[in-house]
Amino acid sequence: MVSEMLDAYFHPTPQDDWEFVVYRNGNPHSIAGFACYGPTPLADRIWDLYWICVDRAQQGNGVGSQLLERVEANLRARGARALYLETSDSDAYRPAREFYEHHGYVPVAHLDDFYAPGEGKVIYCKALAQ
Ligand SMILES: CC(C)(COP(=O)(O)OP(=O)(O)OC[C@H]1O[C@@H](n2cnc3c(N)ncnc32)[C@H](O)[C@@H]1OP(=O)(O)O)[C@@H](O)C(=O)NCCC(=O)NCCS
Repeated sequence: MVSEMLDAYFHPTPQDDWEFVVYRNGNPHSIAGFACYGPTPLADRIWDLYWICVDRAQQGNGVGSQLLERVEANLRARGARALYLETSDSDAYRPAREFYEHHGYVPVAHLDDFYAPGEGKVIYCKALAQ
C-alpha cells in the first residue's frame, strides 16, 4: 500500500485515483507531512482518507489539522458528500483517534479483531455536505 502510494505520488498517471496534499516548511526538499485520499469506488461522492502523517518532530503544531482541513476544503469544493477513514482501535492509535474526533469525525463502525486478535478496526466518517 505505501509503495503503491509513493509510486502514484512520484510517477502520477491520468488513471490514478490517489490525490495528495503535502505540507512543506518553505523548503522544497523537506516535507513536514502529507495526506493521501481518493474517491471510493462504486459510491456516490464518497471519499476515503488513506493516510495522514506528520513528521514526528513536527507533530502537535497544527500541521495535521491544516492538511486535513485542506483535504476537506478540496472535497467540499468538488461536491463530496462524506469522507471516511479507518484506523486501529489499539492504544497506539489513540492519539490519531483523538485527532480525528477533534476534527468532527464520528466512529460509525467497529470491527473487532480485524487487524489481529485483540486489535480491531474503527471506521470514521465526516459529512461534508455544505
Ligand atoms: C495524527 C497526526 C496526523 C496529527 O497531526 P498533528 O500535526 O500532530 O496534529 P495537530 O497539531 O494538527 O493537532 C490538532 C488537534 O488534534 C489534537 N491532537 C493532536 N494530537 C493529539 C494527541 N496525541 N492526543 C490528543 N489530541 C491530539 C490536539 O488537541 C490539537 O488540538 P488543538 O488544535 O486544539 O491544539 C500526527 O500526530 C501523526 O502523523 N501521527 C502518526 C501517524 C498517524 O497515526 N497517522 C494516522 C494513521 S490512522
